[in-house]
Amino acid sequence: MGDHTDTSGDEARLLRTRLVGSLRSNGVIRTEAVEAAMLAVPRHRFVPEAPLHIAYADDVYVTKRDSDGEALSSASQPSIVAEMLEQLDVRPGHRVLEIGAGTGYNAALLDSMVGPRGSVTTVDIDADTVRRARKALDEVGGERVRVVQGDGQLGCADGAPYDRLIATVGTWDLPPAWWDQLVDGGRLVAPLSIRGCEHSVAFDHVDGVMRSRSIVSCGFMPMRGLGSQEGRTVELSEGRIMTFHVEHEVGADGARGALDGRGMTAWTGVQLNQNEDATQLSLWLACAFVGYGRMSAPFGDHGLQRLLMRWANPAVVEGEDFAYLVCRRTRSGTEIGVRGHGPSGAALAARVAAEVREWDTECRDGVNLQLTAYRRGHAFDEAARFTVPKRHTALAIQVVPVNAELH
Ligand SMILES: C[S@@+](CC[C@H](N)C(=O)[O-])C[C@H]1O[C@@H](n2cnc3c(N)ncnc32)[C@H](O)[C@@H]1O
Repeated sequence: MGDHTDTSGDEARLLRTRLVGSLRSNGVIRTEAVEAAMLAVPRHRFVPEAPLHIAYADDVYVTKRDSDGEALSSASQPSIVAEMLEQLDVRPGHRVLEIGAGTGYNAALLDSMVGPRGSVTTVDIDADTVRRARKALDEVGGERVRVVQGDGQLGCADGAPYDRLIATVGTWDLPPAWWDQLVDGGRLVAPLSIRGCEHSVAFDHVDGVMRSRSIVSCGFMPMRGLGSQEGRTVELSEGRIMTFHVEHEVGADGARGALDGRGMTAWTGVQLNQNEDATQLSLWLACAFVGYGRMSAPFGDHGLQRLLMRWANPAVVEGEDFAYLVCRRTRSGTEIGVRGHGPSGAALAARVAAEVREWDTECRDGVNLQLTAYRRGHAFDEAARFTVPKRHTALAIQVVPVNAELH
């Protein structure tokens, strides 16, 4: 890589060192390679409009919005950037393709990791974003990075095959071009959404399948263009800001107004430990229910039972019935419950509660979920715990011992 010289002085360097130090101490940065890249590349040069303390906060920095205020481009939050670089395992000499150039910051990190023998190509759908990334990269010594305007669904055939492919924009599927352009033995890291439940999944591409090595919860802006998969958002109750987001094909009208009617709660007896991450439970339920979606109730308690999560709380719609996760404090932690509304809401809540118990029995300590992606039409693991069909791929989800997941 070129010399990412930082001429903007000691303050930026100090803030950068502090940010990287905290990512190291909280275990997000685990390797010298990622640490060295994040210390070397001046993030503030990719967001020159931001004050220095903002440029080095562990926060997303939005650089472009549409007329409704929705974010169209950003520099992603440094902790997820670091996490995904750890998942990607970039080595000197690798040829890397990134989907979603954005500010160019991650491409600069990749460039610094692959070194002079490697190469980095980054693709963005928007011409103005490509120009911005090109300018920032040129200014910090990243001239070697190729910045290409195009739809990332098609990858970038010119330059393929790649040893590593990373998407920094949310994707619903693994399109054919990514399979075709990644070497056998290569690795793909992408924020993959299953029924609106998004995780950064690191896949190894071996013998025509993609098998996950690690799965990390994340939240990215969705891909536009050929791969866009608009969901649908339903307002749950008039006058209270609560929404439910599901896949487009799901008949979600039953969710509208459901909370205004009578409800009942099925308590599961399943306890979450203090500070336990319940995102694997979300993924489990997303795999188990076609009508899974994320419920958000950001302000106040709305007179509801306490939601398990304020944002992206797991919920399920089926016909006129709606069920969502709630919780109550107990002596030993937090107990998970499922609240059901609608004519058969109690039965739906009982089925969701049964899956929470299954998750508790099968997928707590010492085990993890593993995703295997198959190209559509290829032989498929019928014995998987869950299967989720996509347009170009089919996903098989298994429960595996943690030590089978290689980091
Ligand atoms: C979160 S930003 C990427 C952050 C970037 N890696 C960085 O370091 O600043 C997501 C980017 O994906 C781009 N994008 C959205 N849909 C795309 C598509 N179909 N193909 C390529 N890029 C796309 C957006 O324009 C946006 O710039």
